[in-house]
Amino acid sequence: MKDGSGDRTRVVLLAAGQGKRMKSDLPKVLHEVLGKTILGRLMAASDELKPEHIHIVIGHEAEQVEKFIQDNPSATPVSTHLQKPQLGTGHALMQVAPSLKDFKGTLVVSVADTPLLTGATFKSLVEAHKESKAVVSLLTTDVDDAKNYGRITRNEKGEVTGIVEHKDATEAQRAIKEINPAIYCFAWPEVEAALSTLKNDNQQKEYYLTDVIGWAHKNSHKIASAKVADWREVAGINSRLELSEAIRLMRDITVNNLALESGVTIVDTQGTWISPEVKIGKDTVVLPGCYLAGEIEIGQKCTIGPNTVMKGVVHVGDNTTVAQSLVQNSDIGSNCKVGPFSHLREHTVLHDQVKVGNFVEVKKSVINNKTNASHLSYIGDSTLGSGVNIGAGTITANYDHITKKKERTTICDGASTGSNSVLVAPVTLEEGAVVAAGTVVTKTVPKGALAITRTPQKNHEGWAEERKRKAEAAKLEAAK
Ligand code: UD1
Ligand code: CA
Repeated sequence: MKDGSGDRTRVVLLAAGQGKRMKSDLPKVLHEVLGKTILGRLMAASDELKPEHIHIVIGHEAEQVEKFIQDNPSATPVSTHLQKPQLGTGHALMQVAPSLKDFKGTLVVSVADTPLLTGATFKSLVEAHKESKAVVSLLTTDVDDAKNYGRITRNEKGEVTGIVEHKDATEAQRAIKEINPAIYCFAWPEVEAALSTLKNDNQQKEYYLTDVIGWAHKNSHKIASAKVADWREVAGINSRLELSEAIRLMRDITVNNLALESGVTIVDTQGTWISPEVKIGKDTVVLPGCYLAGEIEIGQKCTIGPNTVMKGVVHVGDNTTVAQSLVQNSDIGSNCKVGPFSHLREHTVLHDQVKVGNFVEVKKSVINNKTNASHLSYIGDSTLGSGVNIGAGTITANYDHITKKKERTTICDGASTGSNSVLVAPVTLEEGAVVAAGTVVTKTVPKGALAITRTPQKNHEGWAEERKRKAEAAKLEAAK
């Protein structure tokens, strides 16, 4: 909520670190987990809190991260804060503090390398924080292998007393199985006072945000903690292997939900990759080898796959089949047949009962009801009416290499093209127009007319025999 000083919420995402262990030119937070970057996922989870603002601390490869944020605007106003050099997670928050002068409320602070973190978990932490009226609240979770995570220390009463980083921990502390996912709520501006007390006298010579917890304990400020049942939801990604694990886990969660909640058959649950944003209707079957990542909505009783990739924003109606195909940012209607081996590129719209078959590529085109393009075609920058038949090998020549311009082709209802015809755009086939096989169309074909540009066929009687005879005669001559 945005008004009433006590109810104000802002989010800080710490995304300035290098992510050395990823061994990548790409900043860690821009690596993708099923079609969406880690940072994009964190921003979406933050949006669910409906905060008044999201502050993102950037540093390593800041320009790339900044560009990503600009290209992917969030529902919430976002500002970026440059941290250079990167002297630790506490130092990262110090870069945001000056922008929070007029802010009084709950400051949610999270690391930005936890792609499986959901809005629901964020919400449960904020609720626990508000209910307990704590000054500092944190998520914790129990793990078998505590790796390099910060360990939660508690006193004999079970109260949280602080966090000790793995590198600074004693053997006894390293045995602690309750770890710090690094997702906190701070009462602001109360916690601002902690920042000036942070010191870098530790193994990593960094200003640790984790020391805020020890500060709160020392100063008898109330600390609340909430446990996450499955540690994997708050796991931080530090290496490529951990990235793969996160992708697999996200896949498992999504596939389980679709199978159990939505009534979708997923034939090969290990060999099918679906991102959590994807919605699929009842009784649709997803065959092995599919990768569906994006804002994708598929209707009921469809058959998707095998080996089909859908990316970006894709809608599919009911009773549609998409086999062995690649579909990007396109809409497919109901009762359509796509594939095998079709490529629907950006801004393609297929209405109902459309057939797009083998080796057909469609780009920025609208194809109306009951139109078929069954074999070996390129349809680009075109509008096709209903009941059109596109013959095998028909090409819309939409690109002028000299002017570098793309032109449109319009094919009206009931028109048809013969095999291997080329429609040189801009051009229109009016209603019911017929294009003969092998024709190159460069001007409008009027309603109901036949366009034919072939030279008339001539037959040379006996030509083959004659040729054979001549060849044999030449051979005999040469042997002499
Ligand atoms: C941090 C926590 C650790 C916790 C773990 C959870 C500290 C000191 N440690 O360790 O207790 O168990 O996360 O995953 O906080 N970042 C900056 N600026 C910096 C350094 C880091 O913005 O100067 C950002 C990174 O981009 C990253 C996040 O903070 O998103 C965490 O940094 P990372 O180096 O991964 O910290 P961990 O060692 O994992
Ligand atoms: Ca980390």
